[in-house]
Amino acid sequence: MSTRAGILSCIGNTPLVRLEAVVPGGCAEVWLKLEGGNPTGSYKDRMALSIVRSAMERGELRAGERVVEYTGGSTGMALSFVCAVTGLKFAAVSSDAFAASKLAGIRAFGGELLIERSEGGAITPALMQRMKERAHALAKEPGSYYANQFGSPYVPAGYQSMGREIAQALDGRVDALCAGVGTGGALMGTFDGLAASGAAPRAWALEPLQSPLLTEGRGGAHKVEGIGVGFEPPFLDRSRLAGIRAIDQEEAFVMCRRLAREEGIFSGASTGLNVVGAIELARELGPGKRVVTLACDSGLKYLGGHLFP
Ligand SMILES: Cc1ncc(COP(=O)(O)O)c(C=O)c1O
Repeated sequence: MSTRAGILSCIGNTPLVRLEAVVPGGCAEVWLKLEGGNPTGSYKDRMALSIVRSAMERGELRAGERVVEYTGGSTGMALSFVCAVTGLKFAAVSSDAFAASKLAGIRAFGGELLIERSEGGAITPALMQRMKERAHALAKEPGSYYANQFGSPYVPAGYQSMGREIAQALDGRVDALCAGVGTGGALMGTFDGLAASGAAPRAWALEPLQSPLLTEGRGGAHKVEGIGVGFEPPFLDRSRLAGIRAIDQEEAFVMCRRLAREEGIFSGASTGLNVVGAIELARELGPGKRVVTLACDSGLKYLGGHLFP
């Protein structure tokens, strides 16, 4: 791992910026952790490095062996990247239901793609189940290691660095943290990192209003990639949260465009949703307080989609 540590050392230590133009007067400060600067353009690099490094340190994964995961998105690209520079192979079980650009991103770093055919491009529970079963079967083959993005404790652990960096940048003074949840790994890991650094914010999970599974118990169709996965996020510890809020995806899309045009921050829909949630909290908390949220990835990943027509 040491010989190629150059690029891996570029994971993390991302900027934290205070939003100005999009935050109305009379609100608390809103700070945004810009994760698009990670090597694959997403905070998933932190989690991929954490999974791979810890498995190698425990001796469960050795150079030349293969990491396996089922994924349709940024997690696959991040794992493919980390495996490429640590002398590992990577196989992603995915589907034609996911964006071609995201699948190309996995291949760009040398990852192998195994495609489960969808019915007309729809992401359904049955398709996800088939992908999962194929990944589990592959991971049982000799020399294979299952990354387990929905269960590995190294997922939230990988995001603790985000919390430590935020605490350091703000001298430990953070009143609120909020973020949309897919697995819940980024929110809970960041919260842990903040706590370990002596900061004691209250934390809110966010979800799309169009799929209010966590707030109302019913999932639905929505277009905020990466969050609102339709099941209880495995790393979400509701007992530690101040609350869960549902945010309208249409407001998130508008905010994404405003972030680009008014703040020069280019991001995806989940970031727009995070910022809408953070401003809501900032309005309630008022001046003198600080709200922090996450810019999960770069808007470059979403060019060609509905977000930036
Ligand atoms: C763009 C984007 N935003 C947010 C999330 C949610 O992160 P987490 O799974 O850590 O809750 C993801 C995860 O896939 C993502 O890809």
